[in-house]
Amino acid sequence: MSGNYTQEINRRRTFAIISHPDAGKTTLTEKFLLYGGAINLAGSVKGKATARHAVSDWMEIEKERGISVTSSVLQFEYDNYCINILDTPGHQDFSEDTYRTLMAADSAVMVIDASKGVEAQTRKLFKVCGMRGIPIFTFINKMDRDANDTFELLDDIEKELGIATCPVNWPIGCGKSFKGVYDRKSESIITYEDTQKGTREGETTVIPVADGEKAVEYIGEELWDKLRDEIELLDGASAEFDLEEVRNGKLTPVFFGSALTNFGVEIFLQNFLQMATPPLPRKADCGVIEPTEQEFSAFVFKIQANMNKAHRDRVAFMRICSGKFDAAQEVRHVQGNKVLRLSQPQQIMASERKVVDEAYAGDIIGVFDPGIFSIGDTVCMPKENFAYEGIPTFAPEHFARVRQVDTMKRKQFVKGITQIAQEGAIQIFQEFNTGLEEIIVGVVGVLQFDVLKFRLENEYNVEIRLEPLPYEHIRWIENKDEINLEKLTGTSDMKKVKDMKGNPLLLFVNSWSVGMTLDRNKGLILTEFGRD
Ligand code: G4P
Repeated sequence: MSGNYTQEINRRRTFAIISHPDAGKTTLTEKFLLYGGAINLAGSVKGKATARHAVSDWMEIEKERGISVTSSVLQFEYDNYCINILDTPGHQDFSEDTYRTLMAADSAVMVIDASKGVEAQTRKLFKVCGMRGIPIFTFINKMDRDANDTFELLDDIEKELGIATCPVNWPIGCGKSFKGVYDRKSESIITYEDTQKGTREGETTVIPVADGEKAVEYIGEELWDKLRDEIELLDGASAEFDLEEVRNGKLTPVFFGSALTNFGVEIFLQNFLQMATPPLPRKADCGVIEPTEQEFSAFVFKIQANMNKAHRDRVAFMRICSGKFDAAQEVRHVQGNKVLRLSQPQQIMASERKVVDEAYAGDIIGVFDPGIFSIGDTVCMPKENFAYEGIPTFAPEHFARVRQVDTMKRKQFVKGITQIAQEGAIQIFQEFNTGLEEIIVGVVGVLQFDVLKFRLENEYNVEIRLEPLPYEHIRWIENKDEINLEKLTGTSDMKKVKDMKGNPLLLFVNSWSVGMTLDRNKGLILTEFGRD
């Protein structure tokens, strides 16, 4: 069914920003908000601390309240587009939520530090984007500082991530001699001006390269010669721009700039908005659901417990996949087989939360969860009854054995740890032939161990001790029905465990053992993503 909300849906762009900590994700987000008018220049740069505050204030609050750290969303308008940016927390906040957020995005912006190239966290997040085949747009940041050779940077992306690159623009110099970028489509130079760390708006001049004299005047003989050589090389060697390939996640358009000094950000945003897709269709058990052809439906991609300590409440974050959300209407919670009204729906607008009455496909809403939702659940109109494809379980990278300090509190312990695992904050595994007294916990980010300990103590009154285990790699057995687990011959460091649903998994200390086990067991298929 198509309603008058088609226009609203089509102007939405929902993307996640992926990067390694310190590449400039926060700075770039701030600049997006600046161009979107959600914050102003004075506010954003009057001492960086203030700027950072404006955007992430609520995150701090969430941290204080729950210590469970979230990935959340900012919404703003630009040029008649309605943009939803999903944050993917880094550093020690890195968790499964970071990955799950990518399940709710229709594209990703990858920020790379020009002096570092592809770094560890980007690699991990990229893998998840690759699994979904969503479009990826690359912003190579910090060109106002010394940068790696441009061809090397592109090569690094292609080799490390296995995606073809297509530079939309090309940097001229870097660091102190950064002069701007060459825009390949208009064949002109867009000049850079130092804006004193972005404290004022920079002026740019556009010089067509056909006007060699003017170009030399601005960028100097040496950079001009270099640029002409590079343009020639580039036109001969780089992948042709192909929007289809971009939208299938096979080719990444690359932009260069300096978020701190406001350079290249608006050019990037404008191009990105044109190239990125409106909300994408999504697979369900009844076929593919088009965002504009169906009435309201959504799926839960994140659950955050204890937003308010006083009431053990939870908020379920949903990505709207089709139609329009109307807070007054009843919806069906498919997995719970109940028709209900979503309670206290909220949306995050720049720095504040507000209650929403309506929202559209592409938007994210957080609703009060009395404990009924699980990650991956579907809600739709009462007369419908379908379920979206579930969210995979992502491979944890840190493992520990959990022991109770007071063994008398067995029941609370099992209840607590099972509930926390159901929310998706941790994963729990058991060895074969043991009961729940021997639990192995796996997490994506180490902070989750602290969260587990804290929550068990505070909510369930159970004290635990965590004993770190050396495993770093976990693999699900994709063809478990064809494999005889008893006969599987692995390496000496390998451990066989099962998840809560009884699926067999293998734990390894290093990646070499993973390869060795695959070699020794012909026909064995291992995967880093678990699916029900
Ligand atoms: P993140 O969210 O990806 O972790 O990065 P963030 O934006 O916080 O940026 C990390 C550091 O890099 C910050 O400096 C920021 O000012 C700087 N930065 C971001 N973009 C650019 C750029 O285009 N050019 C240059 N030269 N620096 C950039 P900091 O000193 O760690 O932060 P602060 O103490 O100034 O707040």
